Amino acid sequence: MTELGAVERTAFLTAALRAAETQRADRLYEDPFAAALAGDIGPSLLAEIRAVTFPATAPRTLPSTPDYNAIRTRFFDDWLLASVESVPRAQVVIAPAGLDSRAFRLKWPSDVTVFEVDRPQVLAAKQELLGAATPSVDRRTIGADMVSDSWTDELVAAGYDPDRPSVWLLEGLLYYIPESAVHRVLDSVASVTAPGTLVAADVVNSDALVLPQMRGLLDVFAGWGCPWRFGTNKPEALFAGHGIEAVAVQPGEPSADFGRWPDPVPPRTDTGVRRVFFVHGRRFPS
Ligand SMILES: C[S@@+](CC[C@H](N)C(=O)[O-])C[C@H]1O[C@@H](n2cnc3c(N)ncnc32)[C@H](O)[C@@H]1O
Repeated sequence: MTELGAVERTAFLTAALRAAETQRADRLYEDPFAAALAGDIGPSLLAEIRAVTFPATAPRTLPSTPDYNAIRTRFFDDWLLASVESVPRAQVVIAPAGLDSRAFRLKWPSDVTVFEVDRPQVLAAKQELLGAATPSVDRRTIGADMVSDSWTDELVAAGYDPDRPSVWLLEGLLYYIPESAVHRVLDSVASVTAPGTLVAADVVNSDALVLPQMRGLLDVFAGWGCPWRFGTNKPEALFAGHGIEAVAVQPGEPSADFGRWPDPVPPRTDTGVRRVFFVHGRRFPS
């Protein structure tokens, strides 16, 4: 397998989380590909995170990482499947896709196309690990750097039509890149999306980057070489600034709980709280 960078290896962490969820009797979804995709490296990355967030000899320091990831996956599974019902001949862009297997495991309408964008070495590793698995949809892969100028051209070259409304999921990316790159990515998305396009993403709040109770988790990611770099307390304004009218939902709120979030969700006016937002909205005419 090609040598992977630190942020690229986080794709194996999320695959390990999906494999662990798939083992549970009360699982929120089933990902039959996750265990193979996680390989050996995914479970060892997950063990490092668990040791920090669920120390054996002390109370947990944070809301549950495994439950958070299970809720995130299920929330965006449901959002994607609902979104393709409202966008004719939907083009779904999962960027970055990492080792996500939605193009294989979800039941898509037959006229959907799924475009997966990620770094070329991640997509090459994914292909190797998936072997002969057959996607459940027309799946196209685009190996590219999403902070470059050219990745949207490569998306179009793969058959994506920027003049038709589409469905985009930016999952597990924005906290790893600096603020200037976040704006660049969202500008790129805006440049190739027609009005009516549906967009979703996850983003952490600014406090999550500095709170003392986050230190252990932040240190793990920094130690791996992929520190968290971006958060915002105003996710709706961030997306509005790039042409997307969005709402932000937090895990534990009624539409993002699934009986699995263990903590109360403090009101948005409370400060000094770690938050994650599931943002989803619609591209408005520019
Ligand atoms: C935590 S994983 C999330 C992947 C997937 N959305 C999921 O939930 O499994 C982060 C992914 O972001 C990708 N990534 C980070 N920076 C990127 C960039 N500049 N261009 C393309 N992909 C990037 C990494 O390669 C990795 O696959």
